[in-house]
Amino acid sequence: MEHQGATIWLTGLSGSGKSTLAKMLASRLREVGARVEILDGDVVRTNLSKGLGFSKEDRDTNIRRIGFVCNLLSRNGVFAIAAAISPYRTVRAEVRTATENFVEVFTDCPLETLVRRDVKGLYKKALAGEIKNFTGVSDPYEAPESPEVVINSSTQTPEESTDLIWNHLLCTRLLKL
Ligand code: ADX
Repeated sequence: MEHQGATIWLTGLSGSGKSTLAKMLASRLREVGARVEILDGDVVRTNLSKGLGFSKEDRDTNIRRIGFVCNLLSRNGVFAIAAAISPYRTVRAEVRTATENFVEVFTDCPLETLVRRDVKGLYKKALAGEIKNFTGVSDPYEAPESPEVVINSSTQTPEESTDLIWNHLLCTRLLKL
């Protein structure tokens, strides 16, 4: 069956599980014959957004670029999955308005859990002042006020979280099996 596209926008702090969920969701969608692309902040910053830093202005530029590509993809029947911190509410709202079938997913996780796990070792450096403007430590994160899906990555398994997104896509008929 030909699928209609959607943009699934994962927003949340570094280490909150955005990339993991993006990959799990992508593979489940591919299993049912959907076309999928992932736009991951860490990857996009090595090409499309190469040279951008972490000021508000650069982050907003990064998010607008990711949003632009997601829109091109999703209007052509692709499930575009964005995984970027996207800390600022206003630019997320701007991308939402410009994008068809926009699904905002908030990967919520307490900062203390992220600091304890510190998968990339970045929180330790940020807390020591070695990385400036680090989201959640020394730079803002504006949590979504009405996201379509909220993931609690400190209490759910990645499979459970993926199921929540999957069920939302089914319930809203963005995904038809
Ligand atoms: S966003 O703010 O523009 O959405 P994006 O998701 O692309 O950020 O990139 C975040 C990744 O960059 C983090 O997971 C981390 O690996 C790295 N990073 C490096 N410096 C910072 C910083 N100051 N704040 C947040 N993430 C940073």
